[in-house]
Amino acid sequence: MRVAAIIPAAGSGTRLQSVLDRPKQFTRVAGKPLLAHTLLAFQACPLVDLVVIPTREDAIETVWEEIIEPYGITVVQEVITGGATRQESVWRGLQVLEEADVDIVAVHDAARIFVTPDIITRSVRAAERYGGCVVGLPAVDTIKMSHETWIEATIDRSVLWYAQTPQTFRYPLLRRAFRHAADIGFTGTDEAMLVETLGERVALVRGSKYNLKITDPEDLELARALLAYPHREESQ
Ligand code: CTP
Ligand code: MG
Repeated sequence: MRVAAIIPAAGSGTRLQSVLDRPKQFTRVAGKPLLAHTLLAFQACPLVDLVVIPTREDAIETVWEEIIEPYGITVVQEVITGGATRQESVWRGLQVLEEADVDIVAVHDAARIFVTPDIITRSVRAAERYGGCVVGLPAVDTIKMSHETWIEATIDRSVLWYAQTPQTFRYPLLRRAFRHAADIGFTGTDEAMLVETLGERVALVRGSKYNLKITDPEDLELARALLAYPHREESQ
């Protein structure tokens, strides 16, 4: 079984613009660029054979010179030009993998730096077994529906999950889902939505609260605090 990961890193980090002067994937936390944290977790997972990174065209060299080479990352096979949306970036990664004879592909946000080899392993195993899976967490807060000030409804949280990444699939299934989405002009907010649109089932695998996506300045503070806490791994 050959396993690839696509780690989209072509975003511009708009929601962190107020505190950062470059896209977040290159920002250092605990002395290391965010993308390096993420790549080292994938490199430490023995199941992962290769990684493809879509990034902005003007950042391809930076990814090699500031991240892959200095941190001794050998699992990355290609750094390619991403697209205008995350979906387009992942689609380009899938096309590159066409020649790579891959059975399973895991898609993971560069900005989720606390992913662990264990989470990656569980998502790959679930994709082998079920065809596709999303790492997620059951909702713990009561969830309200509202357009502005007023609550319109309280949603039954017992059936709600937060979707994280990795989102991992058998390669032909994910390829077909992206092809279909391109054909009908559909943009989803994650990979699973595209597979669901095909009418295929996708499983849920329990993730971790630590597997947060660094999206806004508060997340960056949280990430710095977590990395300063030495026993994080053991406490998971
Ligand atoms: N991403 C990508 N290509 C895009 C947009 C996003 O590869 N055109 C990547 C980001 O680099 C990130 C992941 O998708 O690793 C999740 O996206 P998000 O957290 O939204 O990051 P940004 O788009 O960079 O941030 P923002 O939405 O605040 O601009
Ligand atoms: Mg974005």
